[in-house]
Amino acid sequence: MFEKCLPPIYWDGDAVAILDQRVLPHQEKILLCSKPQQVITAIKNMSIRGAPAVGVAGALALALGARDLQAADTQTFRRKFVRLCEQVKNARPTGNNLGWAVEKVYSVLLENPGADVPELQTLIRRKADAILAEDVRDNVAIGKWGKEVIPRGARVLTYCNAGALATADYGTAVGVIRAAYADDPTVEVYACETRPFLQGARLTAYELQCAGIPVTLITDNAAGSLMQQGKIDVVVVGADRIASNGDTANKIGTYTVAVLARTHNIPFYVAAPRSTIDPSLADGSGIPIEQRDPREVTHLFGRPVAPKDIKALNPAFDVTPSKYITGIITEVGVLQKPFKQSIRKALEA
Ligand code: MRU
Repeated sequence: MFEKCLPPIYWDGDAVAILDQRVLPHQEKILLCSKPQQVITAIKNMSIRGAPAVGVAGALALALGARDLQAADTQTFRRKFVRLCEQVKNARPTGNNLGWAVEKVYSVLLENPGADVPELQTLIRRKADAILAEDVRDNVAIGKWGKEVIPRGARVLTYCNAGALATADYGTAVGVIRAAYADDPTVEVYACETRPFLQGARLTAYELQCAGIPVTLITDNAAGSLMQQGKIDVVVVGADRIASNGDTANKIGTYTVAVLARTHNIPFYVAAPRSTIDPSLADGSGIPIEQRDPREVTHLFGRPVAPKDIKALNPAFDVTPSKYITGIITEVGVLQKPFKQSIRKALEA
């Protein structure tokens, strides 16, 4: 970990350890998962969340599953493993990194047609570990490129949590902030609380405080007014899925911030590894949007805040059209418009 907070996911002996993000910042509780189903449940109930962290969790779930799979021969192993891949892939729909990670791990089977079961188990574990390590490296590179777009003394607004907790470590949008702050300690952050799950209040504020980076927590509703008063210089957010033209799905409310930023002539950057890009989608209209339990809207920490039986909607993500995005900060550089071309080039690099 790059500071005093615990990492979101790691191997603890033979088990996958997951820091339970549902109870942060007040409790640092570790869930020890020895079975893939436990990791799948942790993804579904958001004990681990954030697109890259979910991708890493998916890969480690497959390593756990491969290790314990009962199979008399290679064919049975392959058949059962494909079934597990499907289950893992379907744990959450919007983030691209989960499907990307599952495909990467599954490619071990395709690339090693002659391997026996123990060999496949070793190779699958190795691939999962490589995905975890690669995510950290990518985030550090995103930070290195991204700090160049942060003005000196900038007041940076971020939304949701795109930090170490949302990745294998270091973070994407928060990684950019870390790198900028390391060069310029006058940089400061405004973190939107991010209703309804409060990733900004509970996680981004916690992480930045751990890192000693000045952070002010605001309600989501305060973002526009702060921009109007000239108190925000740049916006940096993460992403869950980026289409070929740059349209970007991220936490619900990101679109609102992007429109506000445009109205106030504030640069709006998306920070994400290339594993978040979905080249199969021409634009954002095909991005699947996860609908979560309306109780997350009607209740706060288990207590009702709305009339009983009220109808509520809880889309977990929205899509920001690429026209509102100034640049996409990746591990291979800051992609500029036209995004169709720069994204294609980045994927080929
Ligand atoms: O529902 P969540 O908490 O998984 O949503 C997370 C986000 O929207 C993040 O901004 C995104 O995954 C990028 S994390 C580096």
